[in-house]
Amino acid sequence: MPNDELVAIRARIDGLDHRIVALLAERETLVRQAGRLKTDAGAVRAPRRVAQVVERARSTAVELGASPDVVARTYQAMISAFIDLELASVGVADAPPIESAGPEDAGELLTLQRAAYATEARIYGDPELPPLVQTLDELVAELDQGVAFKVTYGHRIVGAVRGRVEGDLLRIGRLTVAPDFQGRGLGTALLAAIEESVVPGARRATLFTGHLSTANLRLYERLGYIEERREPLRPGVALIHLTKPLT
Ligand SMILES: CC(C)(COP(=O)(O)OP(=O)(O)OC[C@H]1O[C@@H](n2cnc3c(N)ncnc32)[C@H](O)[C@@H]1OP(=O)(O)O)[C@@H](O)C(=O)NCCC(=O)NCCS
Repeated sequence: MPNDELVAIRARIDGLDHRIVALLAERETLVRQAGRLKTDAGAVRAPRRVAQVVERARSTAVELGASPDVVARTYQAMISAFIDLELASVGVADAPPIESAGPEDAGELLTLQRAAYATEARIYGDPELPPLVQTLDELVAELDQGVAFKVTYGHRIVGAVRGRVEGDLLRIGRLTVAPDFQGRGLGTALLAAIEESVVPGARRATLFTGHLSTANLRLYERLGYIEERREPLRPGVALIHLTKPLT
């Protein structure tokens, strides 16, 4: 049986929730107005704008004494729901949303990475490829320092990409799509999202793959990446580094 103090606190929380929903209604009106000015899914998802909004919410949380993680996660969920609403209004509701990923996603991303890179391990006969032996702590540190995006379907992360900006160069790595979601355009959309998120700061993107990964090479070349150099890795295996100007 809740005591009087708990009942009183819950009543105040209910009052706050009412105000929060009223603010959400106001936000929805503005989102709908903005949505009418957009014509395609890219403009609706605008990952760079989303990353800025979430980052601003995180800083405001720190200023106001709230937990930045709770606020950032709340904002990501809220923005993702508004993006669905806007996409529905421009008629492209079926595509899953692309959002920023952070250290809180590390566990799921590691599982996804291990599942997706199993095919690469088979191609190279090497179960110890770096993405397969990366530890959770290493991944958390990477997510802390770099830029990352994820695609969620329901509650499941089904695709992700990570990168790091060094001067005007975006180093892209670990583009991964869950095996049952491959071939539906998610890899292409994730690459577009990370590229867009760093422009205009970065002017060039670079990534690499093994020389036997012909499907990956086909994807990268189709998206404008060109071979820059080959790096011998071990006898019979070379890494192909590709690059693309970002405008
Ligand atoms: C590479 C990868 C991210 C592509 O994602 P995707 O969502 O399947 O890609 P898209 O649907 O946007 O584009 C399809 C293209 O991706 C490439 N591709 C690579 N592996 C593929 C796969 N298993 N299934 C389908 N397409 C694949 C092909 O070029 C394909 O084009 P095609 O139809 O001309 O063959 C994904 O297949 C994956 O996670 N692979 C394992 C991990 C990996 O190798 N990552 C890249 C490391 S450099």
